[in-house]
Amino acid sequence: MQMPAVELHVHLEGTLEPELILALAERNRVVLPYADMDDLRSRYSFTGLQSFLDLYYANMAVLRTAEDFYDLTTAYLVRAREAGVRHAEVFLDIQAHTGRGIRAAEVLDGVKAALATSRDHGLTTGLIVTFLRHLPGAEALAALQELLALDAPLLGVGLCSTELTSHASEFAPAFDLARDHGLHTVAHAGEEGPAQNVWDVLDILHAERVDHGVRAMEDPVLVRRLAGERVPLTVCPLSNVRLRVVDTLADHPLRRMLEAGLVVTVNSDDPAYFGGYVDENLRQVAEVLSLGPDELLTLARNGVEAAFVDGARRAELDAEVTTWHQRLVAQG
Ligand code: HPA
Ligand code: ZN
Repeated sequence: MQMPAVELHVHLEGTLEPELILALAERNRVVLPYADMDDLRSRYSFTGLQSFLDLYYANMAVLRTAEDFYDLTTAYLVRAREAGVRHAEVFLDIQAHTGRGIRAAEVLDGVKAALATSRDHGLTTGLIVTFLRHLPGAEALAALQELLALDAPLLGVGLCSTELTSHASEFAPAFDLARDHGLHTVAHAGEEGPAQNVWDVLDILHAERVDHGVRAMEDPVLVRRLAGERVPLTVCPLSNVRLRVVDTLADHPLRRMLEAGLVVTVNSDDPAYFGGYVDENLRQVAEVLSLGPDELLTLARNGVEAAFVDGARRAELDAEVTTWHQRLVAQG
């Protein structure tokens, strides 16, 4: 039985499937450096975060018009609902588009129009703009100022890309401005970077959720803080395997994180690149880490708790989770 899932860590650009890459390349007459589909697919093997990011940013060359962003976002909504997602907070790497000459308004027009149809697809959504950590903090601030001037329908801001080349403090002005405008804050940390990066996004950026955060497990004091303050961690198991954060799924710390009382959720990150949407992430961790109905219930409830939704929507999501769990247990 499919879990009613809340997805809190998915990059819209990471849902760009190879078929859509080639279709958009043709529509926009973009010449890609791939001979054919087999050649493109042969590049989906990564040695770490950076080797993935190189392909991920390169493939965005096919996203040019509002219609492209509409099609990308709609394809995600369809696939997410099939995967059991009832509420999704999706990331948009706006600077990856403005940086190659696509206007922010063009990107937003497409994404906004598609997200406006979320309910028709059977889920609710929110939009989180993620700043790119390999670019200067001043550019993150300018990107946010532009989005605010465009009246972008933002739920929050986040931070992603490589953790190794900058300090979180560079992004404090952008995060402060976001908070001044009533936006929520999340940040990637503790994926390729050490536990200290998690401390930094909590103490300097005041992030409400940590994206990934698996390397927090290297620091028992940090684990106690995260558990005590119920800071959610949006864990992406298949991503962690494909980007070599862990050697195999059997080595993944998800079960230990649950046992430590951390508010962990399961997410897909970049499903078109890592071999599965949220249902496949859940299926594989449940099987490999032998998670039972109670552990799955905790994961589902954690997602509802960690979502940036109002009380009425939270109650609806909670009710769906409770019904699903009762059926799961009755089924044996
Ligand atoms: N980490 C950092 N940046 C990213 C990721 C990730 O897993 N996916 C897309 N951008
Ligand atoms: Zn991510």
